[in-house]
Amino acid sequence: MRQPLVMGNWKLNGTKASVEALVKALVEPAAKAEGVEVAVCPPVIFLGLVEKLTEGTRIQYGAQNADVHTAGAFTGENSPVMLKEFGCKYALVGHSERRTLHAETDAVVAAKYEAIQQNGLVPVLCIGETLAQFEANETKAVVETQLKAVIDHSGIDSFANAVIAYEPVWAIGTGKTATPEIAQSVHAHIRAYLAGFSADVAAKVQILYGGSVTGATAAELFGQADIDGGLVGGASLKPEDFAQIIAGAKQ
Ligand code: PGA
Repeated sequence: MRQPLVMGNWKLNGTKASVEALVKALVEPAAKAEGVEVAVCPPVIFLGLVEKLTEGTRIQYGAQNADVHTAGAFTGENSPVMLKEFGCKYALVGHSERRTLHAETDAVVAAKYEAIQQNGLVPVLCIGETLAQFEANETKAVVETQLKAVIDHSGIDSFANAVIAYEPVWAIGTGKTATPEIAQSVHAHIRAYLAGFSADVAAKVQILYGGSVTGATAAELFGQADIDGGLVGGASLKPEDFAQIIAGAKQ
């Protein structure tokens, strides 16, 4: 049985005051969501604050990105070792905004995935197709290529300690959620593709759906056989919406 995971991706949003208010508002929904893991990914500058605020709660947290290096002359970067020291459990890797806005290739994503994992964090590997690729019926080929880059680099067994987030780029921040049927069919394909390398790993890996998840759409999405929770952007900044999404993941 795979544990559902609901993860908020706050992107580049927040103030000290709003972060404090948001985390405090999530303590109770997280406590009530027995069997569901709840995590947030704040901007790194707030990690120290989130570390303090989440102490003694059921809220886990992670970073939105990590550098491939652990230390050295890399101005502006954040080391996975430092993220670990600040109590991160997770680090996102390969989010479409990183791939697009920061030109992160599959090779860069694979190297970061390895650095994150080797330094004791759980990588959350984000994959997904653009609208043009979706319309050209290339979704399956795109996610296979994105997964293969990591499998070639770190091996299939690395997914025993990783999470996958399928996020169709056309659904991110657009209000266009993939239908539960579309999402489930891609999730099933991802699992089947991984099963070609290891049936055991494929059966156990958590595959989250991301892209305009709201309180209204969460339960039906998360009720699909191969959808193990969500990676939530916009709605994770609104405590009531996020609480409803967390409740939607309850088994
Ligand atoms: P969204 O973002 O929920 O605002 O679409 C999801 C994500 O980018 O992880």
